[in-house]
Amino acid sequence: MVAGGAGEGARERGGMSKLSSPWRSDFPIFGTKMHGQKLVFLDSGASAQKPCAVIEAMDAVLSRGYANIHRGLYEISQNLTAAFEDVRAKVARFIGAGSANEIIFTRNSTEGINLVAQSWGRSFLKEGDEIILTAMEHHANIVPWQLLAGPVGCTIKVIPITADGRLDLPAFEKLLSKKTKLIGVVHVSNALGTINPVETIIKTARAFNPAIKVLVDGSQSAVHAAIDVRAMDADFFVFTGHKLYGPTGIGVLYGKAEILDSMPPYQGGGDMIERVRFSGTTYKEPPARFEAGTPAIVEAIGLGAAVDYVVDIGMEAIAVHERKLLEYATAEIRAVPGITLYGPEDTAHKAGILSFTMEGAHPSDVGMVLDPCGVAVRTGHHCCMPLMEALGVDATVRASFGLYTNSADIDALIAGLYKVRSLFGQG
Ligand code: ALA
Repeated sequence: MVAGGAGEGARERGGMSKLSSPWRSDFPIFGTKMHGQKLVFLDSGASAQKPCAVIEAMDAVLSRGYANIHRGLYEISQNLTAAFEDVRAKVARFIGAGSANEIIFTRNSTEGINLVAQSWGRSFLKEGDEIILTAMEHHANIVPWQLLAGPVGCTIKVIPITADGRLDLPAFEKLLSKKTKLIGVVHVSNALGTINPVETIIKTARAFNPAIKVLVDGSQSAVHAAIDVRAMDADFFVFTGHKLYGPTGIGVLYGKAEILDSMPPYQGGGDMIERVRFSGTTYKEPPARFEAGTPAIVEAIGLGAAVDYVVDIGMEAIAVHERKLLEYATAEIRAVPGITLYGPEDTAHKAGILSFTMEGAHPSDVGMVLDPCGVAVRTGHHCCMPLMEALGVDATVRASFGLYTNSADIDALIAGLYKVRSLFGQG
C-alpha cells in the first residue's frame, strides 16, 4: 500500500500547504455545529461521516424498495436480492478478490475475525500450535485468538515494535516455527497510523512454510488506499463499512475460496442450510454457509453506495489528499511545544492518523478542552492496551483524517492544543 506524494493543488502559507477537500460538501454533517462551533471532525478512525450518496441509497430502499431477501418470489424481494448480491460482487472488485463467493458479509471486522477464529481455528488448530500477532493489534485481533487459544491449548506469540512504532521484522522471523499456524496482522494501526509491510510478512511466512495462514485486519487500510488481496496474497482480509463512509452493522470477511470451502459454519440458522432434518443438516457453499439469518440488507446497500462513492473519487486521489494533510499536520503539531508524537517519524510509513501526548495534560484533559472548541478527537487506549503498554503510556490523543478533512481542521486542532497549554499552565 503506497500513499501518493504531496504537492499539486495546494495554496502556500508560510511555506506550508493549505489544503481543502473537494469532497467535503458531499457530507451533510459539516453543515451542523458542535457546541455552537464549526464541527472539526478528527475522529474518522473511529467511524467516518456519511456522504449523501450513502444516506440516499439507504433511504431509497427503506422508502420504496424494502423486503427480506433470498426468500421472496415477489418483485421487490427479487430486486433487493439482486442489489444485495451486486454489492457482494462490487466489494470483490473493490479489494481485488477473485470471486464474489469469497466475500462474506459480517457485522464488522471484529465479527470477521471471530468467525475465522471459531470456524477455521477450531477446525485446524490443536494443542501446541502457535499464533503470531503483533504488539500493535486492536483488541479485535487479540481477544478472538485468546478465546480460541485457551480451550484449544495453543500459544500466542507477539511481534514487538521498534522505537518509532513499526514492526520489528527481524524479531518476526525469529518467531516463526514449525508450530506456527496463523499470523494475524493489522494493515494500518488504528492507534499509530503505521502502514505495516503485510506483503513482506506474507512472503516471509510463505517462504518459511506455505501452509501458514495470514489474516490481515484492513479496518483502517481499506479506507486510505486501494487494496488488492490477491496481489497481497492474504488468506483472510477483514474490513468494516462504517469506517469506509458506509453504515454501521456491515463488514466484510474475504477468504480464499479453497480455505472457506474447508471451513464449517460459524453460526446456524436460516439461509445457510441446504437441508434440515432432526437426524442431521447439510449446509450451503460459502458465502451463504457463513451468513445465518436475515443479513444487514439496508446496510449492505449503504456499503455498496459507499464503495461506489470512493471508487468514483479514486482511492489514489484519496491517498494523495490524505498524504498532503498528514505532512501538513505532522509539521504543524511538531511545532507545538511539549508534544510527543507516536508512530513512524517518516510519513511514508503512515496513514492519516496522529497519535500524541502533551506535557502537563492527560489525553482525556486534552479531549475535554478540545470538545467545546468544536474539535472531535479520540482519547484513551484506542482498544490497543498492549500497544499502550509497549509505548509506556496509558493513553494518547488521536486525530484521524478522512477524505473530507482539510488543513483548516488541523489549524483548529493546533489552536485547541495551544488553549490546552495555556489552561494547564504550559503556555
Ligand atoms: N477501532 C475504532 C477506533 O480505532 C473504533 O477508534
